[in-house]
Amino acid sequence: VGKIHVLSDDLKNKIAAGEVVERPASVVKELIENSIDAGAKNIDISVSGGGNASIQVADDGSGLESDDLKLAFSRHTTSKIESPEDLHRISTLGFRGEALASIASVAKVRAISTVDGGTGSEIAISNGEISEQVPGSIVEGTSISVTDLFFSVPARRKFLKSAKVEFRHVIQVVRRFALSYPEIAFNLIADDKKVLSVRSETLEERIGKVFDPTYRQNILAVDYAKGQFKITGFVGNLNLVRKRRGEQFLFLEGRYIVDRLLNSAVYSAYRSLVSRGEFPFFVLNLKAPLDQVDVNVHPMKIEVRFQDEWRVYHTLKSAVEAALAEILSTIPDLAKFEPPDAASGQDALPFQRQSGQPGGAVGVDTVERAKQYVRTIRVQPQSSEFVNLENIWQVHTKYIVSEIKSGLVVIDQHVAHERILFEQALQALEGSPMPSQTLLFPEVVELPADEFSALIDLFPFLEKIGFRMKEFGKNTVLVEGVPSEMGWEKIRGILKDILDSYETEKREHASFQEAVAASFACHAAVKAGDVLVKEEMQSLVDRLFATKHPYYCPHGRPIIVNLSLDELDRRFERN
Ligand SMILES: Nc1ncnc2c1ncn2[C@@H]1O[C@H](COP(=O)(O)OP(=O)(O)OP(=O)(O)O)[C@@H](O)[C@H]1O
Ligand SMILES: [Mg+2]
Repeated sequence: VGKIHVLSDDLKNKIAAGEVVERPASVVKELIENSIDAGAKNIDISVSGGGNASIQVADDGSGLESDDLKLAFSRHTTSKIESPEDLHRISTLGFRGEALASIASVAKVRAISTVDGGTGSEIAISNGEISEQVPGSIVEGTSISVTDLFFSVPARRKFLKSAKVEFRHVIQVVRRFALSYPEIAFNLIADDKKVLSVRSETLEERIGKVFDPTYRQNILAVDYAKGQFKITGFVGNLNLVRKRRGEQFLFLEGRYIVDRLLNSAVYSAYRSLVSRGEFPFFVLNLKAPLDQVDVNVHPMKIEVRFQDEWRVYHTLKSAVEAALAEILSTIPDLAKFEPPDAASGQDALPFQRQSGQPGGAVGVDTVERAKQYVRTIRVQPQSSEFVNLENIWQVHTKYIVSEIKSGLVVIDQHVAHERILFEQALQALEGSPMPSQTLLFPEVVELPADEFSALIDLFPFLEKIGFRMKEFGKNTVLVEGVPSEMGWEKIRGILKDILDSYETEKREHASFQEAVAASFACHAAVKAGDVLVKEEMQSLVDRLFATKHPYYCPHGRPIIVNLSLDELDRRFERN
């Protein structure tokens, strides 16, 4: 006996009716959903002409017997629900028994399916006519191919966009499934070119594959349960905040959903961290009791209805806040700082106020370095408004401690400088070059042949961040100038590191420039162990607060840790 049956009239009428085939991407979505419902572990998708010409989805799922295969293409035939009560406990992606029928009514379809290594069956459908074929070769599972989309509805065909645009929609659909089912392997081929190829893996690994590898260093795990709700996944730190929407993924038990209220729950958890018009990255999966959700409200099922949406809102918000807790506690409450004996007219910069030798027992060397450092500083007076730059100390030649109105901040000197240089370098790569300092003794650097030729490719980028160099014989360059804040002894390390990131990222990656800027910043920044004089600390803090993201280093580590007076008072049991 077959497993597919025709739904009763009563049940048919209860199902949210409507068109599911809007464009090639909708076909891809329905076919992948069926493959997932069939328990597939591998799903191969191939399209040509962005899906306008043809679409094929092949899986290794449970497959269909010959009679079921034919029945699958009739309206209201499904194996997934049976009685009206089932509508309140849907655990599959499909349930309406409509998708294949809808597709077959507007396109030409061929379907091959095999159950348990049997001989399998193949059918072709055109104009609603099913014709049986000699079974093609398929080892296990089901393969469905769709051509001539909308051939029967020329008006709709006219609305298809270019192959490029339609393909973008296809990628979007595939990407969503790839993120909600990291345990399933997906291959996406477009016009014979491999676009995505991922094997079964963890969600964290999958995020690295679907976006780019740097994402993995910039995501925070979410794992939260409250009552019968459970939320898992990842949210991005501030490095993954974008000016455009597009990297926000919310799933309900694996089903991609669009829900403005729930999206706003996530945004509100970021509160002070992002401003209006900035969108954090997230991939979150929500598990809710089946009777708390109605997925039968929208034909494409991307909108769902929750019994108590505000409860979901608060649960989601708490889940994201818990993940962001560490970030939130590093962000000080920056009220304007007014020293107790605020003398007027002291608006000059602290290091200008200082006369003569900077205080402390520091060597001449350090002082010299400090002077040079101060000279190259881009002055940003804002920070002196909220950080008391007069009360500033270096501890363990690693951290800078300073007073703020609400308590005190501890700043990691290396990552702080790294953030400053990173943003500066990024800006330089996109626009006006960074200043360069001429070396008294130009440095000769010899490299292996392959690295040398890569370095030549990189000359224009390196010049932008302040390097000046030229070819100097075989596999050798002469470095005549370096970025003005960089010590010459670091040249080799930086060049090697930039070459490495060039190898891994190449130039096609959008993040290549970021990778160059990050490796430059990391090497050029002051290190733990470097002694800083007051002026250096002051300017470092000043410039840090002038950056776009003063709280996180390019690798996602915190820069500032905030210790509020409230917290101190609590610890000392003062209130
Ligand atoms: N790739 C597949 N592997 C195994 N069975 C499949 C596959 N695709 C479809 N089927 C079977 O065909 C039936 C009809 O599929 P169809 O997509 O039309 O409806 P549905 O998935 O039940 O509901 P919906 O219209 O909501 O998608 C399914 O219920 C399932 O039993
Ligand atoms: Mg379906």
